[in-house]
Amino acid sequence: MPNQKVAVVGTGVIGNGWIARMLSKGYDVIATDPAEGAERRMREAVDHAWPYVSQLGVADDASKERLFFVESIEDAVKEADYIQENVPEREDLKQAVLLEIDRHAKADALIGSSTSGIMPSELQVNLRHPERFVVAHPFHPVYILPLVEVVGGNKTTQENIEKAQNFYESIGMSVLIVRNEIEGHIADRLLEAIWRESLHIVNEGIATTEEVDKAFTHGAGLRYAQYGPFLTFHLAGGEGGMRHMLKQFGPALKKPWTKLEAPELTDELYHNVVEGCEQQSNGMTMSELDQNRNEFLVKLYDLVQEYWPQESQKTKV
Ligand SMILES: NC(=O)c1ccc[n+]([C@@H]2O[C@H](COP(=O)([O-])OP(=O)(O)OC[C@H]3O[C@@H](n4cnc5c(N)ncnc54)[C@H](O)[C@@H]3O)[C@@H](O)[C@H]2O)c1
Repeated sequence: MPNQKVAVVGTGVIGNGWIARMLSKGYDVIATDPAEGAERRMREAVDHAWPYVSQLGVADDASKERLFFVESIEDAVKEADYIQENVPEREDLKQAVLLEIDRHAKADALIGSSTSGIMPSELQVNLRHPERFVVAHPFHPVYILPLVEVVGGNKTTQENIEKAQNFYESIGMSVLIVRNEIEGHIADRLLEAIWRESLHIVNEGIATTEEVDKAFTHGAGLRYAQYGPFLTFHLAGGEGGMRHMLKQFGPALKKPWTKLEAPELTDELYHNVVEGCEQQSNGMTMSELDQNRNEFLVKLYDLVQEYWPQESQKTKV
């Protein structure tokens, strides 16, 4: 596949993450973004990501020289086989950009959108060739984390879902096909529940942002990189596994442990959360935190590849 061309539209946090990953797997990438200084920031972001993608494994012919920047969507997409859209999360803007992509792209080029929360059926509705449109939702940093959720709209064909799966696997991703269009797909729906509860706990003065983070990272967070909520609770049931677990803790599901409705984002909550995070950073700049996180993730990624229980969980990096 890497003799095929990829276009990336929108080179912010996520677009640049895609670019580093795609280049590292040996694709030619052609990118566009109208913001002042976008090309410089894109190349800096790729330089920043390269040591990490190198540790994870790059294709023999991969090169940062195979990255091109052009001024228009037309020039970016007209020869591309795969197109990834990553413009800001505003439906009107995405609709307009996708129309432009669809107008200039080859009829059989696959179009993936990184949208976190807009339904594929809404985004594809005005396209000339809606059958080749999918949502392909990644996780930051895209050049390290392998998960991508692929969701088709009601006009997307099964053939194109399979084409998307093959493409994202060819860039070392772990593809989760989401069969139904739902807000937040699967992963963000889970993360949003934790996020809302975390805000409630800070809002009610039960714990600081640092204490909430500790409650997660020193316990469940360590487990979750290997086993998700289901296998974790299966193990928590001892010899009886999930059968025993549900018998013992099933009734607790009726207890009001979670609120799920988000708290009001008052000025006080805003300040507590922002100042809490700044204090926790302990003087580290965003770039130092980013580097620290990346070094950790690359080591963790090696470890989970060794310990994940199913071959199917492993990604071809
Ligand atoms: N940040 C995350 O953690 C994350 C994770 C998964 C998915 N997403 C999704 O990815 C998408 C992009 O998010 P981001 O965090 O990278 O945003 P961002 O603000 O960092 O980047 C958006 C980029 O799009 C560019 N842009 C604006 N108008 C454009 C146009 N007409 N044509 C081309 N480029 C244009 C901007 O100049 C900017 O560089 C959103 O849909 C978001 O929901 C974000």
